[in-house]
Amino acid sequence: MEAFARPIPTLVICELLGAPYERRDEFSKHTALVFGTDVPPDERFAATQHVLGFIAEQVEAKRKDPGDDLLSDLIRHDVLTGEELTNIGMALLVAGLETTGNMIALGTFALLEHPDQLALLRADPALTANAVEELMRYLSVIHLGPIRTALEDIEIGGVTIKAGESITLSLSVANRDPEKFPDPEVLDLTRKATGQIGFGHGVHQCLGQQLARVELRIALPGLCTRFPDLQLAVPASEIELPEGASIYGPVRLPVTLNQTGTPRQTA
Ligand code: HEM
Repeated sequence: MEAFARPIPTLVICELLGAPYERRDEFSKHTALVFGTDVPPDERFAATQHVLGFIAEQVEAKRKDPGDDLLSDLIRHDVLTGEELTNIGMALLVAGLETTGNMIALGTFALLEHPDQLALLRADPALTANAVEELMRYLSVIHLGPIRTALEDIEIGGVTIKAGESITLSLSVANRDPEKFPDPEVLDLTRKATGQIGFGHGVHQCLGQQLARVELRIALPGLCTRFPDLQLAVPASEIELPEGASIYGPVRLPVTLNQTGTPRQTA
């Protein structure tokens, strides 16, 4: 997690926003608290305020000294208030870290547990885009939410949701609907997984999904081909996967790279 899965989305989002990567420990720690399920409300509130404060500081710095980044571009357009800029920056910062990091780690774990599928991916780079869609379907890391509130009474599947009532949708269950994906419990990198809803659906579907796809399409095959002897360093049963996490993923994923621990030469 610390060596590979988290640094990738952290570096990418810092570059996009023009935020200092040196301060990653500070905002990563608070972002984890914002999403933790067992975090007391006051601690979650304090963590949210901390991240907002960090972004507000960045917005102020960019106003004085704009750079080649998204926040500076938004400031140049001069249509958003400081509060809007801060909220947008906050949404982008927190939404892409745990999600993408966990997908990289859980995707690696799933591939190591399915050596036949891993071999397919290693043998055929053209399979990568489809493999990422199938991993998104199979793993569906967002376990809590999306949450929607009915604006008027609505009937879905014989159940009436009354105006004002909120519901939470299970992306994982939808992604394992046998009518849409035959043998849904099987990880099959060659199946057409288009239409999976691991990034949500409708107007609020993930804003960063194309960026996340690019990160996954580079990170997963990159790791697996650069380290042909990549293996779990502990039995799979010892990988801790917290059940109640809203963004599912391993706490740690210890691996061995090869006997010497150094990468093989690649082109
Ligand atoms: C594999 C990685 C990712 C997964 C699984 C994921 C998943 C999701 C899901 C399921 C939603 C919909 C929530 C809802 O409908 O209420 C969402 C929304 C969002 N995501 Fe992602 N996401 C990922 C990466 C990213 C990245 C890299 C960014 C930005 C850099 C990002 C930014 C956002 C934002 C801003 C929203 C809110 C969109 C809105 O409410 O209109 N996400 N994401």
